[in-house]
Amino acid sequence: LRPIHRRLSCPGTVTADARGEQQSSGSAETGSEDRTPKKRFSEVQKERREQAQRTILILCPNKISEKKFLKYLSQHGPINNHFFFESFGLYAVVEFCQKESVASLQNLTRTPSMGTEAAIPFRSRFFNLKLKNSSNETSEQSCIPCCNQSPPSSKKLFELLCDAESIDDQLNTLLKELQLTEENTKLRYLTCSLIEDIAAAYFPDCAVRPFGSSVNSFGKLGCDLDMFLDLDEIGKFNAHKTSGNFLMEFQVKNVPSERIATQKILSVIGECLDNFGPGCVGVQKILNARCPLVRFSHQASGFQCDLTTNNRIALKSSELLYIYGALDSRVRALVFSIRCWARAHSLTSSIPGAWITNFSLTMMVIFFLQRRSPPILPTLDYLKTLADAEDKCIIEGHNCTFICDLNRIKPSQNTETLELLLKEFFEYFGNFAFNKNSINIRQGREQNKPEPSPLHIQNPFETSLNISKNVSQSQLQKFVDLARESAWILHQEDKDHPSPASNQPWGLAALLLPSVAKRVSHDKKKRKKPASERIKNLLESIKSSPENSTNTNGKR
Ligand code: CTP
Ligand code: MG
Repeated sequence: LRPIHRRLSCPGTVTADARGEQQSSGSAETGSEDRTPKKRFSEVQKERREQAQRTILILCPNKISEKKFLKYLSQHGPINNHFFFESFGLYAVVEFCQKESVASLQNLTRTPSMGTEAAIPFRSRFFNLKLKNSSNETSEQSCIPCCNQSPPSSKKLFELLCDAESIDDQLNTLLKELQLTEENTKLRYLTCSLIEDIAAAYFPDCAVRPFGSSVNSFGKLGCDLDMFLDLDEIGKFNAHKTSGNFLMEFQVKNVPSERIATQKILSVIGECLDNFGPGCVGVQKILNARCPLVRFSHQASGFQCDLTTNNRIALKSSELLYIYGALDSRVRALVFSIRCWARAHSLTSSIPGAWITNFSLTMMVIFFLQRRSPPILPTLDYLKTLADAEDKCIIEGHNCTFICDLNRIKPSQNTETLELLLKEFFEYFGNFAFNKNSINIRQGREQNKPEPSPLHIQNPFETSLNISKNVSQSQLQKFVDLARESAWILHQEDKDHPSPASNQPWGLAALLLPSVAKRVSHDKKKRKKPASERIKNLLESIKSSPENSTNTNGKR
């Protein structure tokens, strides 16, 4: 069902444009077709955050009249936007035009009396709406249109791919079906904002900011929600603003290192989420990791959340990916397909381990697109040369400077099709000298590996780090084998001229089938079977792939 949005025009509120990062799957012919100015990452973040701060989450009765519901809430001020979704119950996300409306609603909201249990009186923006008299309402209820927050089933996706007209069309279809929707994006910013309210009990001026695939334009429905507690703004002190010869500092507790400070902060926030955070369940404090974090599920939204602190560099790398994703419409289509391909073959996993991560795969695609002739994407060093004074950014001694206004970056002259790029991607990495070379998007060319990890992808900002240090030789070998086989399948299809009208899975659909190797070796024998049976078997095997363990709420 399509969501229905009712929009009042409110001065100073965010327009649909603030979607920014999630838009334009575009046509894939060239990267230069979309000339509309694109928002800077920082603008999108600022708008989304402000929008989330005047938004509330409500668990609604199942039987409800949408009209009355909106009328009731409008007592507190005009509503800019709203939608419903189903998780463990019916939820509404309601965005007021003004922040004051939220306070007005909170003032009229009571803390429930619990009978035998006791309620912790935390006044959040997560409400529970009850009907005083349910029989009246039932008679007038209308069917509430709900937004889907999870990706289409593998079966549906597979059918859509088989029905596409070309491989280019397949890649764009996959992107369209799997990318975060406007509503899911709103829910992600809202969830961060709700967590921020809890963290603000300790650190009133903190911000909880999403990063990673929720904001870098490469997020797939159901992906985790990475967020970090930003304490940088707290106590920022401008010496020029004070008069006289005095300088005032806060009296603070000192601890031996930055890492211990991070652990202490995350530990109390973790406790707080566990004890007082409405809807926060399964809180795990993983404080001894290289990057300490608190992991929890936000039950209503269904998001698996990873909360870290001091992660400004990761936010900057999210911005860089956002720019790469927005520069050319082929980038996201190719990244989504490669990620999906990797997942279908269990090259990636939701469990941490020796697997390649989605982040590494994205870097590989970016690197590959930098290597095309003419290049489809510029190098990071080039983006740095375009930067002006206001773009300058040094974080913890690392130079994270690059141009932030992506409208000033010239579109690529390269007109290669997605079909060709997909094929060439597999060929390129099927034959890459992983044993001696490192992947480096800063310079856009191979470098000698500085250390012997099987796969070396340089962190673009912390250049001494390898983002794929975890990947084992056997996992890398599996990637290479599958890449070669996938290239081979696409070449075979070229030779045999299979038409999209044939009954066989073709193009990208054929590549997503598990165990390409087996399929290839048995292909000749299998050709005798009726197509319908083959497709049935293939669908069965897709169903059992790990991606499908994602439940309908997108939780892993
Ligand atoms: N990151 C990093 N170095 C790593 C791993 C992660 O800098 N070795 C940063 C990246 O900015 C990445 C973010 O942390 O985008 C979140 O990591 P992760 O959740 O693993 O990746 P996502 O890009 O969010 O992809 P996914 O959809 O798989 O969650
Ligand atoms: Mg993530």
